[in-house]
Amino acid sequence: MKGLILSGGKGTRLYPLTYTSAKQLIPVANKPVLFRVIEAIRDAGVSDIGIVIGDTGPEIREAVGDGSRWRVNITYIPQTAPLGLAHAVKISRAFLGDDRFVMFLGDNVIQGGISPLLAQFATSDYNAQVVLTRVAEPEHYGIAELKADGSINQLIEKPKNPSSNLALVGIYMFDHHIFEAVEAIQPSWRGELEITDAIQHMVNVGLHVHPYVHTGWWIDTGKPIDMLAANSLVLQEIPPSIEGTVDAESRIEGAVTIGKGAEIINSVIRGPAIIGEGTQVVNAYIGPFTSIYHHCHIEQCEVEHCIILEHSEIVDLDTRLEDSLIGRHVEIKRSPMKPRALKMTLGDHSKVGVL
Ligand code: G1P
Repeated sequence: MKGLILSGGKGTRLYPLTYTSAKQLIPVANKPVLFRVIEAIRDAGVSDIGIVIGDTGPEIREAVGDGSRWRVNITYIPQTAPLGLAHAVKISRAFLGDDRFVMFLGDNVIQGGISPLLAQFATSDYNAQVVLTRVAEPEHYGIAELKADGSINQLIEKPKNPSSNLALVGIYMFDHHIFEAVEAIQPSWRGELEITDAIQHMVNVGLHVHPYVHTGWWIDTGKPIDMLAANSLVLQEIPPSIEGTVDAESRIEGAVTIGKGAEIINSVIRGPAIIGEGTQVVNAYIGPFTSIYHHCHIEQCEVEHCIILEHSEIVDLDTRLEDSLIGRHVEIKRSPMKPRALKMTLGDHSKVGVL
């Protein structure tokens, strides 16, 4: 069994963060989503993993390396243009050979990992297994229509009038028959070779595609609101631990993780929350569902339901910062300079909500 992670894409819906960082490397509960995907595959017993990379390839290679940190072997497979998920399978043929494999989109987070799913596929005679979950807006996904006996009737990519609310989660398992299927299909209206069409081809030729309906949570972290939602869900699953220092004037409530070298001074931290290594929190309130990454400085302010990336400073705000995604090396501070006004240096596509 092999693993294939798709980690291309520009992440335009996460601008400006993804101008300088691959979307798969944005941390959720202080760990890049891509690392969580590698761990889910590793924990399911797969150690030979290919990663399909695009424009952000150099950064992904730099962050992931050869995989030895996770005791897996990583092979990078460059995709010259984002021509679709089925195209990614096509170009990975030499790496995959005739092995059964699991394909996982590098920006997806799923509750409970994939170990039971993979075990089921490994011992089955299924030619493919797709993971489905009920969603509120199926028109944004590939969807599956099931027959009364639970088998697949039809798979449709982003239907205008969805006939089912079962979406295809970005986790797929295949045997070598997928290679005939990806050769047989034509590009869709968006110019991509759709994996959904390739799987439909497998169904059409009578191969056994097994639908597995996942009932836990699943998030495709495409937009800031999805990142915050994934962050909140993952934070609730992390066992709390305190490695940094908390002074006697501070209060830690609920599930809180405090990294090495972090200092909590005269502050309240209400979990679930995580504070990264070397971060200082001084005279502050950190509310639930907040992840503050390494080497940040948070002082004299209140922060809740936020993701804050490394080396950022948030100091002396008189309103609470909520529902926010803050990049690296960002400074939000009071300005002593007259006239008294909001003063900002924001990158393209930044979004600021003022009172
Ligand atoms: C892709 C697939 C779609 C699937 C989705 C899951 O969509 O084409 O079938 O439901 O991933 O995240 P995309 O992210 O390319 O729009």
